[in-house]
Amino acid sequence: MSDRDIKIAPSILASDFSRLGEEVCRVVEAGADLIHFDVMDGHFVPNITMGPQLINSIKQYTDCPFDVHFMISHPQNFIDEFADAGADFITFHIEIEDSVEDAIDMVKAREVGVGIAIRPKTPISTLFPYLADLDLVLPMSVEPGFGGQKFIMATLDKIEILRKKISELGCGTLIEVDGGVNSHTAPLVVDRGATVLVAGTAIFNSENPRDAIRVLRGEELNTKRDNNWDV
Ligand code: DX5
Ligand code: ZN
Repeated sequence: MSDRDIKIAPSILASDFSRLGEEVCRVVEAGADLIHFDVMDGHFVPNITMGPQLINSIKQYTDCPFDVHFMISHPQNFIDEFADAGADFITFHIEIEDSVEDAIDMVKAREVGVGIAIRPKTPISTLFPYLADLDLVLPMSVEPGFGGQKFIMATLDKIEILRKKISELGCGTLIEVDGGVNSHTAPLVVDRGATVLVAGTAIFNSENPRDAIRVLRGEELNTKRDNNWDV
């Protein structure tokens, strides 16, 4: 599995919101492939985070693609606004109160990548009918709503099931994992077939985000060489 191209998506939920632009630049320079934005509505999850204005204001700082994770009950009310604001991927949950089919169509109509996320307790088979229509699928490895939680190990079997199903269908749907991804859990999810790794705490709480990203991606750290580069 190590020959796969692993993408790392720092979740800005764990960043210092008082200087968000700098925080985004810091992780882009450190090697981020995508920037992950957690949008929460206080209804689908018991927390409120960010709206399209925030994403629009960050867009000027980087060309790095924006991966927007909706944890909201009614994505259809916001898809256009976030597409206008600069989202490159929009992932909503299968447990939404809107029509999943209509939401997929709305995102696609904006030529934005479309993903579906699923809570840990929802049966993984509910995703199967949609897999071939999606750019990415996101089996959550924590209960959505907050950063800094412990990775749920049962996610590993779900990743494997999705990987097999995607191979059978012959579609190129990416498997993203989000929640509790760190240096211990990253190799496990990659081994089962995930290729997009979201990480908040593991990157923003690290002293050296560049090394943290390399470790998550499965790259060897050459301490001597890295130190030489740093001085
Ligand atoms: C949780 C969010 C995650 C979160 C991950 O609802 O979807 O993106 O920021 O944070 P860590 O990596 O700290 O578990
Ligand atoms: Zn997320």
